Amino acid sequence: MLNWDDPLAKFNTAPAAMPPQTNTANAPHAGDGLVSHDQLMATAGAAPSVNPEPATINLDQAEGTLNADINTGLEDIEMGAARIQVDDKKIINCRADLNQLVPFKYDWAWQKYLDGCANHWMPQEINMTADIALWKDPNGLTEDERAIVMRNLGFFSTADSLVANNLVLAVYRHITNPECRQYLLRQAFEEAVHTHAYQYCVESLGMDEGEVFNMYREVPVVARKAEWALPFTKYLSDPNFHTGTPENDQKLLRELIAFYVIFEGIFFYVGFTQILSMGRRNKMTGVAEQFQYILRDESMHMNFGIDVINQIKIENPHLWTAEFKQEAIQMIRDAVELESQYARDTVPRGVLGLNAPMFEEYLQFIANRRCSQIGLPEQYPGVGNPFPWMSEVLDLKKEKNFFETRVTEYQTGGALSWD
Ligand SMILES: [Fe+2]
Ligand SMILES: [Fe+2]
Repeated sequence: MLNWDDPLAKFNTAPAAMPPQTNTANAPHAGDGLVSHDQLMATAGAAPSVNPEPATINLDQAEGTLNADINTGLEDIEMGAARIQVDDKKIINCRADLNQLVPFKYDWAWQKYLDGCANHWMPQEINMTADIALWKDPNGLTEDERAIVMRNLGFFSTADSLVANNLVLAVYRHITNPECRQYLLRQAFEEAVHTHAYQYCVESLGMDEGEVFNMYREVPVVARKAEWALPFTKYLSDPNFHTGTPENDQKLLRELIAFYVIFEGIFFYVGFTQILSMGRRNKMTGVAEQFQYILRDESMHMNFGIDVINQIKIENPHLWTAEFKQEAIQMIRDAVELESQYARDTVPRGVLGLNAPMFEEYLQFIANRRCSQIGLPEQYPGVGNPFPWMSEVLDLKKEKNFFETRVTEYQTGGALSWD
């Protein structure tokens, strides 16, 4: 534990040298939590410049290297420049000052930021006592039920870090709108809370954390979902990647579909349903409650991503070609198949009143909804929703549960004491 009395020298250690990165899909991804960039540098390094006439001189230019990047908000302040107007704002490739939150253009983004803050929660607030007793009771859960808990903590414990790294290292730079960035910052924090929640469950239950946190490298059905998503983020996290050409803007749009519509909007849903089913049967109620709050956050993340995708389409209709739409449809269909495999693997036999065909139908039902949300035709005609109660969970009201279950007090800004 660090404290104020520690000598400063303790913090002055040189950063460890970065290990060489590899391009092997199954190898640990060193450094940034995303992917190796070696191969990308060769292909994306020649990405065309976006703006041949940057509005202000920046340090890179002063050093003699031309940085033709779009506005990042880190440029020199241009004294006396015209005040920002709403119409100057654009979701991508915006040239207006990104340090000025107002005037708002995208009220939906600001509203989601406010809603996210209103939904604030922390994992320690949830009572895990009954879960600990049940997990440690040798007759408490069946082997299939235990496997569901382990497997889903394994998937989610690294999946949320992957999403957070994608946000911070890949997406944020390319979304050139302050109110959207404000939400992205909120979302990034919520992803940290989610990873914290999984760690808190693993620690509370005394699980083998090495086993849980390595599942995405050791359990094929978990690894496949992360491997599917990684190629989409690798372009955007490359420092040499810039939006501003139709090809690169489509890469960004493709990546947003991959992460917001598919990763957070399809790949999370078998696990959510399985854990929440346990809670509905009064088993692992603390873990299930953690997942309930996470599901509420994720639902908002996905809806924000869908709004961003649709706004990019409105502002850049040339990107939404027939070929691109077909590609997006195929991505969604592939994702349904991958997630169906995950369902078959996690529920090899019927358990908790659930079976793999029910999940397959549910995934097709969700995929239809995702398609229509971004303006694509539904792909699975006539499928129903075998889990209508999942929709009710999404309407969860924080106040209803929290005052009954809160076990830990934490200090908020308003309660801070200097004593
Ligand atoms: Fe998350
Ligand atoms: Fe999320």
